[in-house]
Amino acid sequence: MRYVIINGSPRKKNTWAVVEQVKTNLNGEFDEIHLAKENIPMCVGCYNCILKGEKYCPHFDKVSPIVERIKKADAIIMTSPVYAMNVTALLKNFLDHTAYLFHRPVCFTKKAMVIVTTAGAGHKKCAKYIDETLRHWGVNKVYKYAVACGGKDFLDKKAIDKIAVKFSKDVESKKMHSPKLNDVIFFDVWKAMAFKDNPIEADKEFWFETGLVNYDFSPDVKLGIFKVLFSKIMFRIMKKVL
Ligand SMILES: Cc1cc2nc3c(=O)[nH]c(=O)nc-3n(C[C@H](O)[C@H](O)[C@H](O)COP(=O)(O)O)c2cc1C
Repeated sequence: MRYVIINGSPRKKNTWAVVEQVKTNLNGEFDEIHLAKENIPMCVGCYNCILKGEKYCPHFDKVSPIVERIKKADAIIMTSPVYAMNVTALLKNFLDHTAYLFHRPVCFTKKAMVIVTTAGAGHKKCAKYIDETLRHWGVNKVYKYAVACGGKDFLDKKAIDKIAVKFSKDVESKKMHSPKLNDVIFFDVWKAMAFKDNPIEADKEFWFETGLVNYDFSPDVKLGIFKVLFSKIMFRIMKKVL
């Protein structure tokens, strides 16, 4: 299995200690991306990635190799310490540069693990934010480990191993989980957007070229009959509403 680790901490301390413990439970190759070393300039808000296509991002040369490494992986580990009650600017800047993946999701067959550490607060909210972002990328299942370090010994190896083993078994099983209803809704939103009279060209190209417009959800992920019907209805509604 190939794991890509996107480290949003500027240093290798509390958060990285959890990563190292998680790694002891995983079999395979690790591709480490330390965002602090990537020197990605701040997103300038040009909208090029969303409207024209990601290759028009002024920082494409920095962002694209990272996205390609993510695409090659079976699973993603994304980490951040809590800074001012949210993710670090390092991670947020990377997520801003990949906002186009919300419109054009490519991670349907991947599983992920989110690791967040904090001194005392904000860890649950921060992990939830990363979880939501990954689901918008299409990620099939997200495991979360969020811990407050405080003054005590925070490295609860037993608790870390428990979730890491679950994550590892799931990645190795290659089993695809049924998506949440919210994920189905977003799939239908973006799919419907491709059919608009005046669509975002980059989105339209993606949805038609990948063939995703022909499905109720990614063809890699099986839907039960209820979700198939739900998706069909949602798509019709979205097509009318948008
Ligand atoms: C700039 C900065 C902001 C922080 N903001 C918070 C915060 O809002 N709430 C909190 O409980 N801890 C906060 N912390 C503490 C870190 O989240 C915590 O020490 C974390 O485990 C550090 O992880 P690291 O060792 O991977 O850098 C902050 C630390 C820094 C450096």
